[in-house]
Amino acid sequence: MLRRILVLVGVVAVLGFGAYWWLTEPPARLAVSEPFVTPNPVHGEVIFDAGGCASCHAVPNQPDRLKLGGGLAIPSPFGTFYAPNISPDRADGIGGWSENDFVNAVKRGISPEGTHYFPAFPYTSYAHATVQDVRDLFAYLKTLAPVSGRSPDHDLPFPFDIRRNVGIWKLLFMDDSLFVPNQSRPTQWNRGAYLVNTFGHCAECHSPRNLLGGIRAAQRFAGGPDPDGKGFVPNITQKGELAQWSEKDIDYFLETGQTPDGDNAGGAMARVIRNTSQLSSDDRAAIANYVKSLPPVEGPPRPKKKEAKDQ
Ligand code: HEC
Ligand code: HEC
Repeated sequence: MLRRILVLVGVVAVLGFGAYWWLTEPPARLAVSEPFVTPNPVHGEVIFDAGGCASCHAVPNQPDRLKLGGGLAIPSPFGTFYAPNISPDRADGIGGWSENDFVNAVKRGISPEGTHYFPAFPYTSYAHATVQDVRDLFAYLKTLAPVSGRSPDHDLPFPFDIRRNVGIWKLLFMDDSLFVPNQSRPTQWNRGAYLVNTFGHCAECHSPRNLLGGIRAAQRFAGGPDPDGKGFVPNITQKGELAQWSEKDIDYFLETGQTPDGDNAGGAMARVIRNTSQLSSDDRAAIANYVKSLPPVEGPPRPKKKEAKDQ
């Protein structure tokens, strides 16, 4: 009898493990099937600025935002991540990568070795971007100076350190569909929608998350606790303070970091402004146009104002 139970437990364990293995297996790599267009590094720079890659990957505590040696500590409820070196250094960065390696990393969150990246790397937003934009971005990154040195290993407690588990997370929360323009809206609005929902990854910070760290879809853009644990990220739908801002105010804020009442953007948003300030005025105006159109959505209650400003 005992033997039978043991065999049964064994079979269930093997089946369970098989299902886990199957569910968490990174999908086949994305084949780039679009017609070949020579990548354009000048356009890649626009994508780089829109994507805020420097916010996380630039070497911290030095002024050059193009020194992409990594090392920034990114705290989260699941432990501390360290942004890796994405400079063209062959040994420590991504200098040895193929274009296909890069497209799979940015659009699918899959490494050249076929393992999952943690979603602290906001590929969940970049996934909606066009392959051509990601190829242009890769061409641009290759023009930057190689930086040597590796960042520390992530500091994550079990079970959050198991990359395989990210496969389950992706099944639950990752939508990798391409951005589809809304034909009933003008070109400017669609450009803004594309930038905000792909490279701008605005919703990654400006939305509340569930216990597993997935964005609560119904409250996208409605603000929430800062993912790094301190402070609060404001609601940017028309339910929040932004109902009182004009489109021009949002535009000016993305260029200068100044709010209509004379405050300066603080915390993580100050780093975002360092990138959006580099965009063309047309792209910034498009982002402002789209953000101003977000329908009002009630967000989680904001803690007392004083605490929120204290970052
Ligand atoms: C919010 C911070 C953040 C932003 C913004 C960000 N990344 Fe990352 N990135 C990370 C983290 C953290 C990892 C490590 C993920 C892991 O180890 O699973 C990473 C990993 C990567 C990797 C894999 C590197 C390797 O050695 O395997 C590449 C490539 C990359 N990012 C490119 C980019 C590009 C290009 C952009 C801009 C479009 C960008 N990242 C924006 C945080 C960020
Ligand atoms: C890394 C996290 C992060 C990302 C990404 C991010 N934001 Fe923010 N944002 C913040 C934080 C934090 C604040 C609050 C800043 C403060 O308190 O000074 C803020 C403030 C703002 C405000 C001012 C709102 C108010 O009521 O004062 C606007 C507008 C805004 N962000 C728009 C955007 C847009 C558009 C994007 C995408 C291009 C974006 N943000 C991406 C974290 C982020």
